[in-house]
Amino acid sequence: MGKQPNLFAFPSVDLLAPTLRTYILHAQNAGIQRHEIFKVAVSGGSLPKTLAAALLAPASGPDDVIDFSKWEIFFADERAVPLTHEDSNYALLKTELLDKIPAGMGTPTVHPINAELLDDVQELADQYEKLLVASFAQRDSVKLPIFDLLLLGCGPDGHTCSLFPGHPLLRETDAWVYPIEDSPKPPPKRITLSLPVVTHGVKIAFVATGGGKKEILKKIFEEGAGLPCALVNEGAGRGAVGLWTTLRWRGSVSLG
Ligand code: 6PG
Repeated sequence: MGKQPNLFAFPSVDLLAPTLRTYILHAQNAGIQRHEIFKVAVSGGSLPKTLAAALLAPASGPDDVIDFSKWEIFFADERAVPLTHEDSNYALLKTELLDKIPAGMGTPTVHPINAELLDDVQELADQYEKLLVASFAQRDSVKLPIFDLLLLGCGPDGHTCSLFPGHPLLRETDAWVYPIEDSPKPPPKRITLSLPVVTHGVKIAFVATGGGKKEILKKIFEEGAGLPCALVNEGAGRGAVGLWTTLRWRGSVSLG
């Protein structure tokens, strides 16, 4: 059994949301304090909807300020489809969260993929890496970018970002962003942050919701077994990995 992630379990997304908000708020405030900006990477799947539940709720007090004007949002992984396509993680985030941000909460800077490069996923990945270099190079002296927070999903097979179990990409360490053309989860063509970039984040949180995650969470906790989610947790030296779930969990976990 590997390093245990911190697990916070909730009976529903509604009850998870306020704690997720507090967690993100702390990461936001720490990022702003460090460098006046909050650099966050997000995944697709069910996450954008859960994020909206957490972030668009009314503030609970004067210190509870989500300031989107300080947010710089990147994609932890993205599908090689147009930005308006129903499979696009950007489109999903836009519909679920970005379009719903009230004026008073500020406007985030968002970095979608360059949709003119969809025919060449290697170029798509290279250009996204260039964008990261341009953004992070001024700040991190720069072997790897240091996201203030990565908000990730956890697939039913244990994948996270577009890093899939047993895939050779898990061993790649040279680039920050990789193309993948054989994703087992459709669509097959995508780009993804590399494992070292993910584990280098200041804070990393998996948000796993719904009963469909029960078996895989059990596997992650009990065996790890080289699963990408477990590899992220093992490699994350800079801070604990939060694993948020709507499951009642009976294993050895610390509940928040
Ligand atoms: C993607 C996602 C992917 C997702 C997981 C979990 O683009 O496919 O980024 O990595 O986070 O598959 O998805 P769910 O939250 O929908 O289970």
